[in-house]
Amino acid sequence: MKKGIWFFSIVLCTYLLLSQTNGQTLEQSHQIGKIEGNAGDVLEDGPVGRLKVFVYELPSKYNEDLVEKDPRCLNHMFAAEIFMHRFLLSSPVRTLDPEKADWFYVPVYSTCDLTKSGLPLPFRSPQMVRSAIKRIASNWPYWNRTEGADHFFVVPHDFGACFHYQEEIAIKRGIMPLLQRATLIQTFGQKNHVCLKEGSIVITPYASPQRMQAHLLPPYIPRTIFVYFRGLLHDGINDPEGCHYARGARASLWLNFKNNPLFDISTYHPTTYYEDMQRAVFCLCPLGWAPWSPRLVEAVIFGCIPVIISDDIVLPFADAIPWEDIAVFVAENDIPKLDTILTSMPTEVILRKQKLLANPLTKQAVTFSEPAQPGDAFHQILNGLARKLPHDGSIYLKPGENILNWTAGPDGDLNPW
Ligand SMILES: *[C@@H]1O[C@H](CO)[C@@H](O)[C@H](O)[C@H]1NC(C)=O
Ligand SMILES: *[C@@H]1O[C@H](CO)[C@@H](O)[C@H](O)[C@H]1NC(C)=O
Repeated sequence: MKKGIWFFSIVLCTYLLLSQTNGQTLEQSHQIGKIEGNAGDVLEDGPVGRLKVFVYELPSKYNEDLVEKDPRCLNHMFAAEIFMHRFLLSSPVRTLDPEKADWFYVPVYSTCDLTKSGLPLPFRSPQMVRSAIKRIASNWPYWNRTEGADHFFVVPHDFGACFHYQEEIAIKRGIMPLLQRATLIQTFGQKNHVCLKEGSIVITPYASPQRMQAHLLPPYIPRTIFVYFRGLLHDGINDPEGCHYARGARASLWLNFKNNPLFDISTYHPTTYYEDMQRAVFCLCPLGWAPWSPRLVEAVIFGCIPVIISDDIVLPFADAIPWEDIAVFVAENDIPKLDTILTSMPTEVILRKQKLLANPLTKQAVTFSEPAQPGDAFHQILNGLARKLPHDGSIYLKPGENILNWTAGPDGDLNPW
């Protein structure tokens, strides 16, 4: 454990001096060079002129009324559904002529039904989405033409359009039947999972840019914390036995590292949370109920190398952001070795990741900026939609042809909204 102590003192005193010899392998350097070049180009892609979006006009009970009733929806990690709508209303890709549209957007805020304590309940989302689809399908001809294959929805909840926060139930429910041809824009991303279908666009969770901005420290503040984490380690309310939450990953972090001086981990959420991330080298981003959390965005903004512990995660905007170079990936089963994995990482590699994280394009790409900025998360979503064009001719149904089943799904989901 000599190495750990040695590393700790370096981190404490100076902030990763450059004098260490280069332990980077040829393969790593090749990969970094390659991805950086490509990612830069993709990150700068502009969507304007590459797609036209028609925004359906729905009664405000599907969207703005919900925000008025509970403005907390504007600040939680699912707020992308609201800001994407507002962004599109004044975006140059918007068309008022549906005949000219490549994409149709249905502005339903499916994740703005909050409990007293601010947790979103997705239980009525299927009814609400179904009601909205019924409405657009009867008032416009475009839904029936493709049964939604040229439509998109923002479904930012934990398991997207499976609409449940517990994974087993989400899996059992599957993607809501009426959304099975639409393009889903969702934070949930995991390989080979029924709640992520091919063609979905995985986005970053929402973290308030103003709030993060307000906590920015000068960039020369030394990173004196080696590993940082604040958040739930057990969910005693929803998972008293502790076998479901985070598939045991967070419990294992606590068990293994609670007394390790390199690890600053706790459930206690300090007011200096954002400042602390700027003083840390590594920020743990373990799965919770879902594979992702806003920590990923916060870590990028604050230049803290995200340590992603979430097997098979599909990362947001993965075709634009070079996650492999920015972050560290640790398998859930390797949590007990996390200290060794991180302390044996060559300084060169750490500095390289920090440099990539400092790239304003990277930060922009994970942010739902206000006002919107070129290359930000809104633009990455549009880029994702543009890359799916032109639509395959096979999406258009023959007159009278039906693929989706309006009465499929759990009985409760069919109740009127
Ligand atoms: C679209 O299909 C639905 C269900 O088959 C039908 O009720 C509706 O009238 C159709 N809409 C239009 C505009 O024809
Ligand atoms: C639609 O789904 C319902 C409920 O699962 C089922 O009873 C019905 O037979 C299905 N209809 C068609 C045409 O497949």
